[in-house]
Amino acid sequence: MNISILINIVYILAAIAFILGFKLMSSPESARKGNLISGIGMLSAIIVTLMDAQVQRYDFILIGLLAGSVVGLILAYRTPMTGMPQMVGLLNGFGGLASFLVAWAEFHAHKHHLTTSGAAIIWLTAIIGAVTFTGSVIAWAKLEEKFISGKPITYKGQQIVTTIVGLGMLVSGALFAMQVQSEHGYLYFAAFTFFSMALGVLLTIPIGGADMPVVICLLNSYSGMAACASGFIIQNNLLIVAGALVGASGIILTLIMCKAMNRSIANVFLGGFGAPPSGSSAEVVGELKEVKADDAYLMLEAANKVVIVPGYGLAVSQAQHAVRELMEALEKNGAEVSFAIHPVAGRMPGHMNVLLAEANVSYDAMVEMDSINPQMENVDVCMIIGANDVVNPAAQEDKNSPLWGMPIIEAYKARTVIVMKRGKGKGFAGVENILFFRNNCRMLYGDAKASLQNLIAAFKGA
Ligand code: TAP
Repeated sequence: MNISILINIVYILAAIAFILGFKLMSSPESARKGNLISGIGMLSAIIVTLMDAQVQRYDFILIGLLAGSVVGLILAYRTPMTGMPQMVGLLNGFGGLASFLVAWAEFHAHKHHLTTSGAAIIWLTAIIGAVTFTGSVIAWAKLEEKFISGKPITYKGQQIVTTIVGLGMLVSGALFAMQVQSEHGYLYFAAFTFFSMALGVLLTIPIGGADMPVVICLLNSYSGMAACASGFIIQNNLLIVAGALVGASGIILTLIMCKAMNRSIANVFLGGFGAPPSGSSAEVVGELKEVKADDAYLMLEAANKVVIVPGYGLAVSQAQHAVRELMEALEKNGAEVSFAIHPVAGRMPGHMNVLLAEANVSYDAMVEMDSINPQMENVDVCMIIGANDVVNPAAQEDKNSPLWGMPIIEAYKARTVIVMKRGKGKGFAGVENILFFRNNCRMLYGDAKASLQNLIAAFKGA
């Protein structure tokens, strides 16, 4: 069989594997299988690509493959679960850089024969790749709080500077496309590279560290678009398909996150969503009522139906194993226990699912917000662990609240609510939670893991 026919057949099979993989990844139960199938698709595609007659030397490919695999393995093993958003951010950046390098190499190799449309595709690939690269590095640095602060960085005239840089990128790109074969080709290439790298930085620095997961998602989508564009340059069908899949799924995930955080996509694209939303919320009535672990134990011991709402604090205190132990103790005591999962609880998509799965909590026990809310009135104890914004009734009751309109887990409807948090700290949105002041709510102060261990000890001692 002709090798190029074989390559294209394998590419089609790989594309099917990617799509199937995506489908399977939509449920936590089948996600691992989906990942494996997509991975096999990618490996087969790489193998047949290496058989292409255009590949003349294997030494550089081998060096790159080895170096990338070693670094990737070390990163994957060393990165804690809480560090996943920045790791994904960095990987997006590398994807963008790879597409940029493809564009550069193609320009360098064919600069004397490029047409205006060919140069335009090179420009498009290079700028998306460069913006993705520098934007992702800044996102990573902000989340790691390395080199720069995680807070929004703003200055006077910011929008004007960003607009000028954006225009510079467009103008130098237009000149590049029109005069690509001239002696100034490289100069224009360098100019739009500079402008697009600067744009990636300028668009990302005004965004607050805690908002970065949405940006990372968007940059993920950009890296897909850059790969898709580079597929057009080197006329590789699979790169076009895979890039388009990443680009589209990144946008869909960004939209889902925006909806769940009550932000508009226009807001994200305009880069104007730096600081957490502010607004003048209604005055809080009632008082905080503290409960000690012994009394909280008595409430839980008497409960038949318990719902646990995990949030960012669960990840901070790494209490996932402790919460599974408490779940087992409650079940042994005859209670029915489930976890209510809010789509943006924590700081990255699927954060709670991943944490709980790590502690071997079964997927059946994790119930999505829309399914758990109708059951809330029949819940004896709703235990909120390190969650705040995602259970704040102000989202439904206070039109002036920055959270207004955000879908929430309706924990306030449960007969009794126990909230585990360290103190009076606010959530990501920076607003008071009116639920904590309600009559049916009790505050169990302390680090989530320590509080859970106290409750487990109480069950064991009973
Ligand atoms: P948050 O509203 O951020 O609240 C977390 C709470 O955990 C805080 O009130 C804090 O109170 C408590 N906490 C922190 N460390 C703790 C510890 N060691 N032990 C016990 N409690 C601890 O969390 P959430 O309810 O999960 O909401 C997520 C927020 O992040 C939403 O506003 C969402 O829009 C935003 N966001 C989410 C994402 C994604 S994709 N998930 C991305 C960006 C932003 P204390 O300080 O008093 O302990």
